[in-house]
Amino acid sequence: MDKLLTPYSLNPTLTLQNRILMAPLTRCMADPDLVPTQAMVEYYARRADAGLIISEATIIRADGQGYPNTPGLFTRAQIDGWRKVTEAVHAKGGKMFAQLWHTGRVAHPHFFGGEYVLAPSALAVEGSVPRMRELVYTVPKAASHADIKQLVEDYAQAAANAMEAGFDGVEIHGANGYLIDQFLHHAANIRTDEYGQTPENMARFPLAVVDSIIARIGSDRTALRVSPGAYFNMGADARDREVFDYLLTQLEQRDLAYLHLGIFDDSMTFDYLDGTASAYLRSHYRKTLVGVGGYSAETGDNAITAGKFDLLAIGRPFIANPDYVARVKAGQPVVEYSDEMLASLI
Ligand code: FNR
Repeated sequence: MDKLLTPYSLNPTLTLQNRILMAPLTRCMADPDLVPTQAMVEYYARRADAGLIISEATIIRADGQGYPNTPGLFTRAQIDGWRKVTEAVHAKGGKMFAQLWHTGRVAHPHFFGGEYVLAPSALAVEGSVPRMRELVYTVPKAASHADIKQLVEDYAQAAANAMEAGFDGVEIHGANGYLIDQFLHHAANIRTDEYGQTPENMARFPLAVVDSIIARIGSDRTALRVSPGAYFNMGADARDREVFDYLLTQLEQRDLAYLHLGIFDDSMTFDYLDGTASAYLRSHYRKTLVGVGGYSAETGDNAITAGKFDLLAIGRPFIANPDYVARVKAGQPVVEYSDEMLASLI
């Protein structure tokens, strides 16, 4: 584990104690006001020896909610709640980014008492909210120019709130079929204005969010997660390739803290990306890249040594092993993850 356990400098502002990141993991255990609880404080603090903890996806405003009890970063109580989490992580020598989230068409009016959900286009995602089958996804309202302007502002405000809550930075959730990703894929974006049809147009909203957050908190503290391969809440379309080719060229000109692949299994291949999503990102983006998706410490270390990415995010094994990093250091076996573990915060 030569690579994994050595420090890594993201930039002059942030150096990580090792290259193991805790992946963002939605747990649906915030309180009814979407405020982090004391159990969440302890859950994150137990994992402070990760190089960087990325928080579970955290909604930037009420209409971004698509699942029950997902935390927010838009009220005083939510900011104060997260401050307890970041203080506990910092007290144990850790670092933590907030993952900023708006689910777009994967939101449901049930959660915020609204009339509609917002998305690039009036195209519903199929199905219903997991474990709440009566909540069938609705046809969204296509965001107006005023809606888009407000969304960009609300992302920047949530980033500022994250800094006030003591986070070391933010990861913009641009992956997994949620709002930002919806703009980047033809299956969800059929707009005919300056936010649709061409790569430049389809990347316009995501880049506006990135730039507004950089302007507010600095590029050193801003990261982005993307899913060039459509695999969740999204259909594949070969034309998406040129959208991501363009987006990555643009992102490389900004000094983000890192770029993070969004995927569950990195052995998955995509015809229109000519292979895996991580190999595609690596060949189009030379700055710090975070790999993820089905890795063990050993296979992740090998991938870093082979230059496939620079940092490794670990998801499910971190749910099963609060002491994941200590186990890797000691060469001890890890407890295997199972879905029943989602029922409690150990
Ligand atoms: C996730 N994942 C995820 N991704 C994300 O960007 N934001 C999130 O809030 C969540 N939430 C979430 C919850 C649960 C229960 C799982 C299992 C996954 C995806 C996660 O970050 C990671 O990409 C995958 O779990 C793949 O990595 P592992 O688990 O194979 O190491």
